[in-house]
Amino acid sequence: MTRNWSPDTWRSRPAAQAPEYPDAEALARIEAELHRYPPLVFAGEARNLRARLRDVAEGKAFLLQGGDCAESFAEFNADTIRDSFRVLLQMSVVLTFAAALPVVKVARLAGQFAKPRTTPTEVRGGVELPAYRGDIVNGIEFDAAARVPDPQRQIRAYTQSAGTLNLLRAFATGGYADLRRVHRWNLGFVERSPVGERFRDIADRTTEAIAFMEACGVDSENFAGLRETEFFTSHEALLLGYEQALTRVDSTSGDWYDTSAHMLWIGDRTRDPEGAHIEFLRGVANPIGLKVGPSAKPDELLRVLEILNPRNEAGRLTLITRFGTGNVQRYLPALLRAVEAEGRNVVWACDPMHGNTVVSENGYKTRAFERIVGEVRDFFDVHRAEGTRAGGLHFEMTGQDVTECLGGAQEITEATLSDRYHTHCDPRLNASQSLELAFQIAESLRSLRSTLAADVAEAS
Ligand code: PEP
Ligand code: CO
Repeated sequence: MTRNWSPDTWRSRPAAQAPEYPDAEALARIEAELHRYPPLVFAGEARNLRARLRDVAEGKAFLLQGGDCAESFAEFNADTIRDSFRVLLQMSVVLTFAAALPVVKVARLAGQFAKPRTTPTEVRGGVELPAYRGDIVNGIEFDAAARVPDPQRQIRAYTQSAGTLNLLRAFATGGYADLRRVHRWNLGFVERSPVGERFRDIADRTTEAIAFMEACGVDSENFAGLRETEFFTSHEALLLGYEQALTRVDSTSGDWYDTSAHMLWIGDRTRDPEGAHIEFLRGVANPIGLKVGPSAKPDELLRVLEILNPRNEAGRLTLITRFGTGNVQRYLPALLRAVEAEGRNVVWACDPMHGNTVVSENGYKTRAFERIVGEVRDFFDVHRAEGTRAGGLHFEMTGQDVTECLGGAQEITEATLSDRYHTHCDPRLNASQSLELAFQIAESLRSLRSTLAADVAEAS
């Protein structure tokens, strides 16, 4: 148990990005109702994820964390969930092949609803309204009534999370994720693209490897590692009243767990060491992520690490860096050195999305695929130069054929952004761009593997 902590101690700290609910009593009623609802995940599952992340920290696995920037009530349907799930599966097969390492799959799904905003209001045509803060808080429509925070939305977000998680669990263990079906994961519109062809090649090789194992006597029908997969959920722990309502004591360990997702992360705008978000998350035993942007100072980061992980346990904390292409060399080395010097156990993951957002000339918030790939490459290079471990990728994607990020093999341009621009918040990679990114990272992992192998050979 964490000292001087209870699920509500955050309430005496300043909470950045908190919505202003007009009716405090209505909010309290909803939070009490949520508190009576069943947990969405179990403590044992969150512990399993911590163990997998310990493997990542030790270089025995790679973390793939991706999904929506903001889930929406409007896009809640089975196809959207299935398509995101299968792109993450495809990416993980590509990475497993390249690195000969297990991939720990964590979705930004089943709870990723609350959004931090750069400005508290939005102005259009001279009219100023409160900013949209995600479907769990208010409506995206630009009208005064929709923008009033409505606590009832938290119930809907919980219900949607439960439905999403139910389907994800079914996909993960009910046959869909069976590696013997790897060919069927190629999506319609991706299959016809060059990246779809590259995937087919990997799928062929996977199928051959399984046939080989079967010929050697492995009973693939009864081998769980082929038949099903482990799949975890995560979101930004921003709306703390909601998170508190889903926080429960685990009867096995006596520890507190936030049962809204397996992993929770703290955003770049809410990581004040004295603030409410750090206070809340220090007391729950889930694996925690911390976004780290250009304003993070080494001393302050070390302080936060001490607060969130006083026992320095590997797997507890994942640092998700997001500096923007061209900024990685400038900011990352000092942080790596400070964390290494203190012997702190963390997973380092790269978010190549949030430091690379721009507004196109025709007014769309977008990101260039080349810059996203560039930040990941810089991330690997800096880790290699510093002798530290590039442990994972954190990114925003959808399985749909959207046109939100520029470039990639489909060559999406400023002129075609408007074709299928559907995001409720930040621009996401589509299925084809996501798979393309996985192939790029696979190359980095492969060359890292051969460097490590060469080092071992030289040393022996
Ligand atoms: C996000 O991940 O959607 C986000 C808002 O990121 P950051 O906190 O890094 O800006
Ligand atoms: Co985002």
